[in-house]
Amino acid sequence: MEKMTVPGIMGMKEKGIRIAALTAYTYSMARILDSAGIPLVLVGDSVGMVEAGYTTTLPVTMDEMVYHTRAVSRGCRNALVVADMPFMSYQVSVERAVENAGRLVKEGGAGAVKVEGGVRTAAAIRAITGIDIPVMGHIGLTPQSVHRMGGYRIQGRGRDDARRLLDDAKAVEDAGAFSVVLEGMPAELAREITAALSIPTIGIGAGPCCDGQVLVLNDMLGLDCDGRPPKFVKRYAALAEVIKGAVAEYKEEVMDGAFPSSEHCY
Ligand code: KIV
Repeated sequence: MEKMTVPGIMGMKEKGIRIAALTAYTYSMARILDSAGIPLVLVGDSVGMVEAGYTTTLPVTMDEMVYHTRAVSRGCRNALVVADMPFMSYQVSVERAVENAGRLVKEGGAGAVKVEGGVRTAAAIRAITGIDIPVMGHIGLTPQSVHRMGGYRIQGRGRDDARRLLDDAKAVEDAGAFSVVLEGMPAELAREITAALSIPTIGIGAGPCCDGQVLVLNDMLGLDCDGRPPKFVKRYAALAEVIKGAVAEYKEEVMDGAFPSSEHCY
């Protein structure tokens, strides 16, 4: 695969090629995703929940996002790296939004940033794209709005709510975003939004009619030890079990002296 770019991702919608995106937070995982041909890798602020154990994404800082983005950027030779703007990095003022987006590109090596919210964050999106940093929008179930939503609830169920999300989608596109994540909404509404926009939509819990899909890597790999994944997650592997098995075998072999054997000695 050749180096993926923002125009390349936009062109996939025009050509009717579905976009398979995944999150990554580390160099090693980014290398694997990149070598498997994933065209778009998102350094999500979900890192706070799946890698740091927070119950929401709200505590994630700019410094943490820069650190993880830098690691993922080093691992992605071909994939476009999109870095999430964490809570409070773009809400205070458009100047702060631009400055923080700049850090993710300059220090993190990202090719684009992601901003949650539609109408209410359009000014930040416009300002960031105004200095030629591509922005991916994110509407619907926006995890940084967990307290307003009263939990991680599907959005856009009623007519008024659906209208509001259509307005959000239009606002994101009009502000200059190159794509938009549609999270946690009825499949029919995601289909309608996808048809109404010229930029690609990337769905998560938004049904099959988006221009692409994204999943949290840890969820689809089955890397968590406890709890059932949400309905929209398909488990493509059960890596927690694989890792537990390997670790238990190592422990046994250390305890009974089977490891290290002669082949592992100098
Ligand atoms: O933080 C994240 O991983 C995300 C995706 C779920 C879209 O925003």
